[in-house]
Amino acid sequence: MKMRLFTPGPVTVPQNVVDAASAQPLYHRSPEFMALSRSVWADLQTVFQTNDPVVVLGGSGMTGIEAAMIAAHAPGEQIVILEHGRFGQRLTEIARIHGLVPHVLSVPWGESITPDLLENFLNDLLNDLLNDPLNDLRGVWFVHAETSTGVLLDAGALTSTIRARCPDAVIGMDAVTSIGIHDVKVDAWQIDMAITGIQKGLMCPPGLACVSISERAEQRLLSNPRRSYTLDLHTVLDHQRDGLFTWTPPVTLVAALNAALKRILNEGLDNVWARQAASAEIVRQGARHLGLKLFGASTSNAVTVIEHHRSNEIRRELRDVHHMLVAGGQDQLSGKVFRIGTCGSTTPTDAHEITEALHTVLTHLV
Ligand SMILES: Cc1ncc(COP(=O)(O)O)c(C=O)c1O
Repeated sequence: MKMRLFTPGPVTVPQNVVDAASAQPLYHRSPEFMALSRSVWADLQTVFQTNDPVVVLGGSGMTGIEAAMIAAHAPGEQIVILEHGRFGQRLTEIARIHGLVPHVLSVPWGESITPDLLENFLNDLLNDLLNDPLNDLRGVWFVHAETSTGVLLDAGALTSTIRARCPDAVIGMDAVTSIGIHDVKVDAWQIDMAITGIQKGLMCPPGLACVSISERAEQRLLSNPRRSYTLDLHTVLDHQRDGLFTWTPPVTLVAALNAALKRILNEGLDNVWARQAASAEIVRQGARHLGLKLFGASTSNAVTVIEHHRSNEIRRELRDVHHMLVAGGQDQLSGKVFRIGTCGSTTPTDAHEITEALHTVLTHLV
């Protein structure tokens, strides 16, 4: 029997997207592929709610995040990173590997980072940096929806706080589990670089990263030293303006992304977000009704994190008996929680079905 994915990515890929991905590859310099690429780039701007270009790279979400960070910052630059889970920690790891100086605001997993917390942090840091010859804070990076904890930050309020204190900082946002799931407003929130993969809200097979590049970010990548050949966003952006991918792209995935974006825009962004919100709410309510405790603030519609000391057994039973795959906890939450993903094409009916299966599993748990 086919396994159903209730993981926070990859997600079940709709049949029209599977069909697009499995067609014969187009030649990447053909007029047909160039037209398809232009359509993808334009549709991505709609989904990101931005007029900025959104470039597409072969690789996973992390590829996009790493490319964005090294484009925006030169070695030695001071940046702030907001950490509220495993993926925020990865931002810090990337920054350190590339010689940046990250100042980390972290909260215990499951908690949110509020604008007040950020404002106090920025005030203290900017005071400290007054006595530093390299006192320029060049960027602030954060994860919008933490997939390890199920916490969605109030990105609009956070970016207002950042702009008030650091008007010239590049704001980078990992939107890997929020684009196509939540109402992400890249322009209205003044996000300079928002990054996603295509295997979650965009309901494709994994393999492409999408990065929006604001004018401020573009100025940075024009003046910063190039530190990667294949991930150089300067070159990628130049080529995209000529209607080309820089390298031979995974053309079948670009075709899949085209089909998925058309599907999303046909459904309507508001309807997509409403469907995702309804599905996540059914899982949250269902879990509470079963007497289960949700982990932390639980505000992401991509994933619901549920505490249980027998999480691994529950996951096994869901997989072996009900053919439903849910994710386990990461790092400090390993074995303590399980995570039910509701991103992509998940419907409220799917959400009811996983909740019912969970009920059955809990009834049999002795
Ligand atoms: C919030 C977040 N950021 C980054 C990533 C990394 O994406 P990828 O696995 O596509 O590199 C993930 C993947 O789960 C994620 O959930």
